[in-house]
Amino acid sequence: MEDLKKQLQQASDFIQGQTSLTPKIGIILGTGMGALIDRLDEAVAIPYARIPGFPCGGESTDRERLALGRLAQKPVLILSKRFHYYEGYTSQQISFPIRLMKQLGVQIMIVCNAAGGLNPLLKAADLMVIVDHINLLGTSPLIGPNPDWLGVRFPDMKDAYDPKLVSLAEQVALEERIPLRKGVYVAVHGPNLETPAETRFLRAIGADAVGMSTVPEVIVGVHAGLRILGFSIITNINLPDAFQSISFEEVVAVAARTEATLRYLIEKIVARIEISPSDSAD
Ligand code: HPA
Repeated sequence: MEDLKKQLQQASDFIQGQTSLTPKIGIILGTGMGALIDRLDEAVAIPYARIPGFPCGGESTDRERLALGRLAQKPVLILSKRFHYYEGYTSQQISFPIRLMKQLGVQIMIVCNAAGGLNPLLKAADLMVIVDHINLLGTSPLIGPNPDWLGVRFPDMKDAYDPKLVSLAEQVALEERIPLRKGVYVAVHGPNLETPAETRFLRAIGADAVGMSTVPEVIVGVHAGLRILGFSIITNINLPDAFQSISFEEVVAVAARTEATLRYLIEKIVARIEISPSDSAD
């Protein structure tokens, strides 16, 4: 536990050595996204491999970076790539970037992902704001001794996705005339995609979209007291009785083609987010 404290301190010292900006909003990009980083003003981009204690699987390319800068005048931090359980990362590794955000001053986390649509009203290239989630990962990133200095042992998950931020997202989407769906995201382990029978099950238990990420980060974020807003780009539609094969290339292509709209929406939302001067943001 002392090690974690030390590692977080080292990583934040290193980042604070590169910029004087204190990020208040953290954004995690999903599959096929990435161009938001290019929208940052006064940007500093640091490859993951250079950050002490930061997970990287040795495959860290130049595009895998933590960037700090201003988006719509607000100080933000962007992670260009996330870490998944299916890649073999541990809970500790998956949690580290979120805890580092908190250590650096982030109060609000915006998480994005590519997801399969389960609700028959969804269609490919829809945007969905996440209102709740179901964790089918079979694990939690909080298993193990609790770092009490970071958060409580049994974090409440009632409003994991901040209702005020969801309302703000809906309002901004309406004003900007961007169609925005609302739904429940279920996280599965992957990396294999779901069978038609699993898809029927996921829909029956109340999920609107399925993916392999986001939930661990949200759990760690809630534990750390972050306010969270989540978006899914619906990249494919999984209907158990009319099941289509899912191609990962198609998932990436739809995400890439929809990303610009999500990027625009996020920028407009960030412009409207009020950042409180203290850590206990409201
Ligand atoms: N299932 C799981 N993860 C996904 C999907 C899917 O259909 N599409 C994009 N990520």
